[in-house]
Amino acid sequence: MSTAQDEIDFKADLTLQRLQPQLQQVWQTSQIDDVKQHEFEARLAEHWRPLFGLLFQLYSSRYDFFYHIEQVLLTAARGWAERPEDLCAIDRHRINEPNWFQSERISGGALYVDLFGENLSKLREQVGYFKNLGLTYLHLMPLFAVRPGNNDGGYAISTYRSVDPRLGTIEDLRLLATDLQQAGISLVLDFVFNHTSDDHEWAKLAQSGNREFQEYYYIFPDREKPEQYERTLREIFPTVRRGNFTWHDGMQQWVWTSFNSFQWDLNYSNPAVFRAMLEEMLFIANTGIDILRLDAVAFIWKKMGTSCENLPEAHTLIQAFNRLARIATPGLLFKSEAIVHPDDVVKYISEYECQISYNPTLMALLWESLATRNVSLLIQTLRHRYKLPKNTAWVNYLRCHDDIGWTFDDADAQAIGINAYDHRKFLNDFYTGQFPGSFARGVPFQENHETGDMRISGTMASLAGLEQAIEEDNEEKKELALRRMLLLHGVSLSIGGIPLLYLGEEWGMLNDYDFVKDPAKAGDSRWIHRPKMQWEFLEELDDHIKLGNGSIRSTIFRSTQKLIALRKSLPALAGQEMELIATANEHILGYVRLYEGNRLIVLANFSDEAQVIEGNKLRTAGLGRFFQNVINDKTYATSEQLVLEPYQILWLNRV
Ligand code: GLC
Ligand code: GLC
Repeated sequence: MSTAQDEIDFKADLTLQRLQPQLQQVWQTSQIDDVKQHEFEARLAEHWRPLFGLLFQLYSSRYDFFYHIEQVLLTAARGWAERPEDLCAIDRHRINEPNWFQSERISGGALYVDLFGENLSKLREQVGYFKNLGLTYLHLMPLFAVRPGNNDGGYAISTYRSVDPRLGTIEDLRLLATDLQQAGISLVLDFVFNHTSDDHEWAKLAQSGNREFQEYYYIFPDREKPEQYERTLREIFPTVRRGNFTWHDGMQQWVWTSFNSFQWDLNYSNPAVFRAMLEEMLFIANTGIDILRLDAVAFIWKKMGTSCENLPEAHTLIQAFNRLARIATPGLLFKSEAIVHPDDVVKYISEYECQISYNPTLMALLWESLATRNVSLLIQTLRHRYKLPKNTAWVNYLRCHDDIGWTFDDADAQAIGINAYDHRKFLNDFYTGQFPGSFARGVPFQENHETGDMRISGTMASLAGLEQAIEEDNEEKKELALRRMLLLHGVSLSIGGIPLLYLGEEWGMLNDYDFVKDPAKAGDSRWIHRPKMQWEFLEELDDHIKLGNGSIRSTIFRSTQKLIALRKSLPALAGQEMELIATANEHILGYVRLYEGNRLIVLANFSDEAQVIEGNKLRTAGLGRFFQNVINDKTYATSEQLVLEPYQILWLNRV
């Protein structure tokens, strides 16, 4: 008896057989050698059936399905044929070492090319800086050509084929990629595939009345459909513009725009869009990219009557892209950017979808724990939400270029007696500095007076108290702010996954209030935490070394650098395995990291007062009687109580 699966597999095999002649033609035109051709074919044999199944689910009802699947296959083949030899060499290596990204040696950083280094060629001169800091992963914020005026920090892309001329050229990008590769640093770029800018060629063709390209987007003649959709949609940028649709004067039609009015959502129910974006993806990957950050994954599929976020088809789509990457650019990883409810975040993470993912829940709850000085909600959440499928990893971060949203689960909060609505309000009050005694200096982002919803902007240092401390010139407060920052880094670097710094954090950069002077930025408070790198800090660092009188900046830099270096020396920090320790103290987060027989215990005090934990807890969790804190070399015996200083974090190795 043949099952439904057999049926699809049979169709898949037959389709591939029928497509062979076209595939042979690609090989002939591109003149690649037999070895390279066979490599592709071996991977195709492995991934074709699942790929076909995924595309069949999405598009088999289309009259022209066979045409599109043919085009998809040929696009993949051309992508591989055009892939430069040095990247193919990395592919071969990674096929044999698929878990390279789980190493304790990986540490990431993210930056804006213009704000950090001016342009791509200047950035090449800073590779030494990244190495010195200990980075092995570098995420450059979107650097492709953008529309004039507001471009949402590079997320409104006019073409994926050229770099923003202010930053350089594709050739500069390739050169930088090669330099980074030689320095052992992986390069990460965004794949902004949910939307294009309104001046992308496809959008312009649509505007000119071209029907084929109007079908690349969601375009409606009147309000009827948009209004039906609106009933179940949320608003992403409510202070900038209401609703999810934008009237286009030229076309006299409505366009779906989930984000800004100039960011047109692509219509993936049209297989031509899938194929066209595949070609863009392979082009980007072939410039020398190791990891693609899949932007706004939650939004890529729409269905009437739903929230149009996190729909099952969104996963099917990403899985299809993943299989195509396995076939055409096998060394490439996907990182998911799903800043949504924790139940939905994990659904994007698997070996055959996104191998790595931002961990927005951990990020938000670390800030939550700092505000409350209590780790109960963090622990309640980690207990059942940290574990991931095999061959995947979290990307742990504290701040990024976006706002902080309090994306914990209401039921997790409820379970420990916290009212989620009130708690979010408290956190917003706290991080905007309204709450009495708050050390934070954040500002509101997208406050929605109707729903009470609000997110927070601000740099790590300003949120952790450094801005207030510097303004009051209060040494004690500076010390506390420094400790808070190191506490958060200490968790992010040790809890399991890829730690990701948002560059500037290593200097404790403060909020930049000058963004309001630029009209293209003034309406978006996220620019407050996107300051320009202040290279004069590096001179302070030199003085620090020469004269021995540390400024707060050089202390922050040195301590961060040291933690990164320590991480790399601790094999227990590889992989994802993490077990919580019941510390019996609601201010102390405790966990053991385990990897191939190595263990490290981490204890983190989120309170501004000293806290104790029974040494016996360490003995059972760490299987030893004496432990050394590798951060300051102090030794502890499990026969005694352990005292943690305010905001102290310990990384304990058995001695
Ligand atoms: C992602 C980006 C954010 C951008 C949005 C639209 O969420 O991180 O900065 O505004 O996508 O592209
Ligand atoms: C949406 C995105 C999130 C981003 C935000 C922009 O919620 O999912 O990634 O941070 O918009 O503020």
